Amino acid sequence: MKPTFYVTTPIYYVNDVPHIGHAYTTVAADVLARYKRLMGFDVYFLTGSDEHGQKVEKAAITAGETPLELADRVVKRYQALWERLGISHNDFIRTTQERHKKGVSEIFSNILEKGDIYLGEYEDWYCTPCETFWPETQLIENRCPDCNRPVEKLKEESYFFRMSKYQQALLDHIETHPDFIQPKSKRNEIISFVKEGLRDLSVSRTTFSWGIPVPGNDKHIIYVWFDALTNYMSALGYPDATPEYQRFWPANVHLIGKDILRFHTVYWPTFLMAAGLPLPEKVFAHGWWTVEGQKMSKSLQNVVEPNMLIDKYGVDAVRYFLMREVPFGLDGDFSHTALVQRINSDLANDIGNLLSRSTAMAVKYFDGVLPSPAELTETDSALKNKTIEMVETVNKLMDELAFSKVLQTIWEVISAGNKYIDESAPWTLAKEPANRERLATVMYCLLESQRITHCVLSAFLPTTAGKALDSLGWIKEITRENLQWGGLSTGTTVTKSEALFPRIEG
Ligand code: MSP
Repeated sequence: MKPTFYVTTPIYYVNDVPHIGHAYTTVAADVLARYKRLMGFDVYFLTGSDEHGQKVEKAAITAGETPLELADRVVKRYQALWERLGISHNDFIRTTQERHKKGVSEIFSNILEKGDIYLGEYEDWYCTPCETFWPETQLIENRCPDCNRPVEKLKEESYFFRMSKYQQALLDHIETHPDFIQPKSKRNEIISFVKEGLRDLSVSRTTFSWGIPVPGNDKHIIYVWFDALTNYMSALGYPDATPEYQRFWPANVHLIGKDILRFHTVYWPTFLMAAGLPLPEKVFAHGWWTVEGQKMSKSLQNVVEPNMLIDKYGVDAVRYFLMREVPFGLDGDFSHTALVQRINSDLANDIGNLLSRSTAMAVKYFDGVLPSPAELTETDSALKNKTIEMVETVNKLMDELAFSKVLQTIWEVISAGNKYIDESAPWTLAKEPANRERLATVMYCLLESQRITHCVLSAFLPTTAGKALDSLGWIKEITRENLQWGGLSTGTTVTKSEALFPRIEG
């Protein structure tokens, strides 16, 4: 049986339309899912939408719709974008689906019965956009410490989750599972936060009605984060012992943005502990994108719309830029200039040129029939070894989710390929019939190195890699086994590749 791999994205709020921040997590998850599939894993890749809560209720009122009408309309925009971006998710969960409501009610009842959810009274400052209560001491100039918007005083009867009880257990877990929270800097932040003391958490609301009712007391709506986090399990069929649930829970990695780290590494694991359920293996928080140096926001009208980028630059250029420009885990800045520069240098120049030069030569010198190599010289072996080492290094770096470094490593092989052409000078070899065998070896090494490169790259740039592999005459499935040197068979038909990425002028 294949090993399993379960990766998730956050589920996106439907009161907002998708922007590059949302596309970022989803593309990263897609790259990981595609890579793991080609490495032989049985992958479950989940994304979805977060449709309950006061924020969505308010947005619906403003739009003159019911919350469900709003959700139905906005969720299509996410789904259409994922389709355009080539996202290969196995499932899309909406929190308004019955399967999800059933999972949330079950986990809530389970903890309630065990006594770790109890009824009490709540009075504190509430930030509606963040759906978070804040004690007065944490407010910054009477505003929300996370988003700097005004907060309001709310008093309500509320169910509480006995989070305080799990403080030590959580610290122990973080201690004994060094990879649970990544990157390291975030792990340290969470450790300090937990050490300051965990308060019991209000997990129900009575001030609005758009959500899942507390089982047995429908005056109360389950707190939207309790509801949302459970999607990672309800999608698999929890509480039923479905084959998916049994095979894929606990998740291997939850990919999230740094703003929602606390929910995923303090709330979620303690809920799971209370319910007696296994914890996810890893939570990785990536950084935030600014735009031309500024925070992205509707009021600044600088929200970068992924559809517009795809129209202008193409899907794979956008995917490449997002994964290459910023080390995963750090903040980054989006600018059109930076994107165009990456397209022109890394994509059009390096990878595109290499493929079109090499396939053109294969057509010119061998009528597009791949010749067999003779014995490799030192230069050939150097390219071969670099390619083989790249596969190994990439595998290690993918486990660290170091996407940008992975691409750098791949690009070293691409540069080596371009240098190899210049050093081997096939055009000179072609002039002498006596050099035919040498020329054949050079062509083989050049094309085989690129075949392996594009097999690996297919996780990042599925469309481009598909085109490249077509022109190299590679029609087999990409598997871990055929990432070895020597996969291209003599006699394969090579066709001249059109420019993979046109240069962007101006
Ligand atoms: N609904 C919650 C998640 C629940 S998961 C159980 C939520 N939704 S969100 O739509 O507001 O945000 C989803 C993700 O988008 C978060 O991981 C957030 O970090 C990410 N981003 C939103 N803006 C971003 C940037 N400007 N840059 C990078 N990622 C950003 O939170």
